[in-house]
This record gives sequence, structure tokens and C-alpha cells, in this order.
Amino acid sequence: MTDTDLAQTARENADAVDTTAPIKMTARDVHVYYGATHAIKGVSIDIDMDHVTAFIGPSGCGKSTFLRTMNRMNDTIAAARVEGQITLDGEDIYAPSMDVVQLRARVGMVFQKPNPFPKSIYENVAYGPRIHGLAASKADMDQIVERSLKRAGLWEEVKDRLTDSGTAMSGGQQQRLCIARAIAVDPEVILMDEPCSALDPIATAKIEELIHELRGNYAIVIVTHNMQQAARVSQRTAFFHLGNLVEYGVTSDIFTNPREERTKDYITGRYG
Ligand SMILES: Nc1ncnc2c1ncn2[C@@H]1O[C@H](COP(=O)(O)OP(=O)(O)O)[C@@H](O)[C@H]1O
Ligand SMILES: [Mg+2]
Repeated sequence: MTDTDLAQTARENADAVDTTAPIKMTARDVHVYYGATHAIKGVSIDIDMDHVTAFIGPSGCGKSTFLRTMNRMNDTIAAARVEGQITLDGEDIYAPSMDVVQLRARVGMVFQKPNPFPKSIYENVAYGPRIHGLAASKADMDQIVERSLKRAGLWEEVKDRLTDSGTAMSGGQQQRLCIARAIAVDPEVILMDEPCSALDPIATAKIEELIHELRGNYAIVIVTHNMQQAARVSQRTAFFHLGNLVEYGVTSDIFTNPREERTKDYITGRYG
């Protein structure tokens, strides 16, 4: 894909930008340290509802680290320390009163490598709703499982083998199962960290299509090192470099008319 194609793809996506979409999450002056490493240096950003926001930037610039601050996955890394404020619907997610299990249901996560549980397809999806008590009966649970698998574009492929192991499917199917698992607890935000990097082009296209379909019901944030993917799936793009948020805006603007020299250098492939 040439630079012009990239800009064209991003422009086609610009139609989906809705400037009235409510703000779902905010970050204000967020810093993350791993011991002495200062990995995120004062990032502030607003994440809209009903949009896909792409985090792009060279490897090691802090995309995953910042993404993990948004549902407190950094809590699980002993060396990580987070400063600053992050809110969900105006509520500070680092407040002592915040229930982290509940937070991670509201702000779900999909990882680079599909990681289904070594359980049946059905149980993979039912797991979250069960621990959160979302189903009153077996029939309720069946309905949640079916709806989640349908939303994840997987139902037709698996409806006759729900008892098969979730790990016995293709990589692309496993990733859609992980998306179904995230959706099953009715999240408001879905964080995806390079969800297609382990997938072939056909499986990748299916996930991108799915992201398009899901967009209207969630705030979606996707980390990608693939700029074509950012141009195809996102309405907003944030460019990170060396722990700084260099530029954030409408995806088509970032790809056609970046304000910052560093952004221009990156999108034109001057450094990787
Ligand atoms: N668990 C960790 N412990 C220590 N340092 C880490 C850890 N995870 C990431 N880092 C460091 O933080 C910086 C940002 O990494 P990361 O967020 O993974 O970047 P990206 O996702 O953009 O490739 C890098 O310098 C990396 O080495
Ligand atoms: Mg990463």
C-alpha cells in the first residue's frame, strides 16, 4: 500500500467520525514506571464511545503499557507504578473504592496471542457471566453464550460443537472466541493489544470486519503496529513515541496531514 492509498483508506473511514459521541474514558498526565524505567511520560487523552481508537508507534514506545493502565492490568506487574488520573464515566479507576474485578468486566481486554482457556467453547464464553452472576438459569446462560458468539461472528462455525475445546480451533477462531468471552460480560470498553499480529490475512480481515460491527456498541481501543490496519479500522489515532503521546486526532488527519514532524516521519516509514 502506498502513502496515497493509506490516506485514501483513512479518509473513507472519516465518515464514521461522530463529534457528538460521548467521552468514555480520560487519562490525565499519566506516568508509568517500571522500577527506574520511565515508560509513559505524562499522557493525557480522551477516548470516545462508539469509535475505534488506534494506538500506533514504534516497538517499545509504550503502547501496551498505556493500554494496560486503562483496566489496571499493570497492577499484575510488580515493578509497574502508575501516576496520574484515569477515569471511566468520570470515575477514577485507581480510587481505592474501585472494584478491580468489576472494572475489568467493564473494560475488557483481548491480547496479541489468542488465549482461550483449556475448556469447551461454551465454557470459555460462560466463564465471565458465571463469576459475575449474570445468568439466572441454564437457559439464560445458553442465551448469553449464543448472543456473544453471534456478536463475535463465530456462532455459525461452532454452534454444533460447543463442547469441543476452545484451544482446538484455528488461530483466527480462537481470537474471535476471546472476543466473545470479553463481550459476554457486557463490557463498555474493549482494549485490544495487536489482536491480529498472530493471524493470517484472512483471519485478520475477519477480525477487522468484526471490529467495524462492534464499534457502535463500545469504545474500542486497538494497539497496532500496522498502519494500514489503523487506517482501515479506526476513527481516531494516537501516535506514541518514546513514552510520549506525540499526536492524537481523527485518523484521516493523522494520515493525510500530521501536525508533528515525528508523526510524519513514522507514517512515511522513515523509522520503524
Ligand atoms: N513488564 C515490564 N517490566 C519492565 N519493563 C517493561 C515491562 N513491560 C514493558 N517494559 C518497558 O516499557 C517500555 C514500553 O514497552 P511496551 O509498553 O511493551 O511498548 P510497545 O507496546 O509500544 O511495544 C519499553 O522500554 C519496555 O522495555
Ligand atoms: Mg506492545
